[in-house]
Amino acid sequence: MRKKIVAGNWKMNKTLPEGLALASEILTIAQTELSQTSVEIILAVPFVHLYPISKMLAQSTIQLGAQNCYHKPSGAFTGEVSAEMLASIPVRYCLVGHSERRQYFQEHSQQLAEKVNLLLKNNIHPIFCCGETLAERNAGGHEELVCQQISEGLFHLPAEEFAQIVIAYEPVWAIGTGINASSEQAQAMHAVLRKHIASHYGETIAQNCTILYGGSCNPSNAPELFACPDVDGGLIGGASLKARDFIEIVKSRMK
Ligand code: PGA
Repeated sequence: MRKKIVAGNWKMNKTLPEGLALASEILTIAQTELSQTSVEIILAVPFVHLYPISKMLAQSTIQLGAQNCYHKPSGAFTGEVSAEMLASIPVRYCLVGHSERRQYFQEHSQQLAEKVNLLLKNNIHPIFCCGETLAERNAGGHEELVCQQISEGLFHLPAEEFAQIVIAYEPVWAIGTGINASSEQAQAMHAVLRKHIASHYGETIAQNCTILYGGSCNPSNAPELFACPDVDGGLIGGASLKARDFIEIVKSRMK
């Protein structure tokens, strides 16, 4: 049985006091309403929030995630944060290759593969993001393109390391737009990705790989998206900034 995950991506939102308040609210509701959940809850928070929130979550089952790391291990890279630093907090998950990073910071496959390697070396699970733009979807070939993102970022890994990866399919046109992929569109792409993984690593590894959907996921559309057989959970942006909405999304993954 593959892991079900609901991860909140706070992006560049919340001051430290606001972030601590949000994490505390999520933790309190989770402890009272979700005591027996089989869903892994992850909060991917800004760098400055990581350490204090790690203290808050230490006795809980909620896992801590970062949103990025640098693709070199250490050294003269002013302003950057290494995978080893994240591991020392400790952080359990880290987003890699979110479309905002690909678009605004020109991150390309080679760098993403290096980030994946450094995270795995430091026992942090990469949450590897992929997805097509609307123009790419309209032009057709979007399935090949998303498969290529996965091949280039991940398929250099040996099977036992690939097994540590979580994948997030996030169509760029759905992120922050209020227009989510339909459950048919999400299921179709997740099935394509699983088949692509199977072609490289075999059926067992593909069946065990957690593939999340992200892009305008909210409490209203989550039940339908999560009912798709190949959608194992969600990567939630805007709706993860409201504790009640985020918890309702987690609950819909529990069903
Ligand atoms: P959104 O963002 O839920 O606000 O669309 C998702 C993401 O970018 O991870």
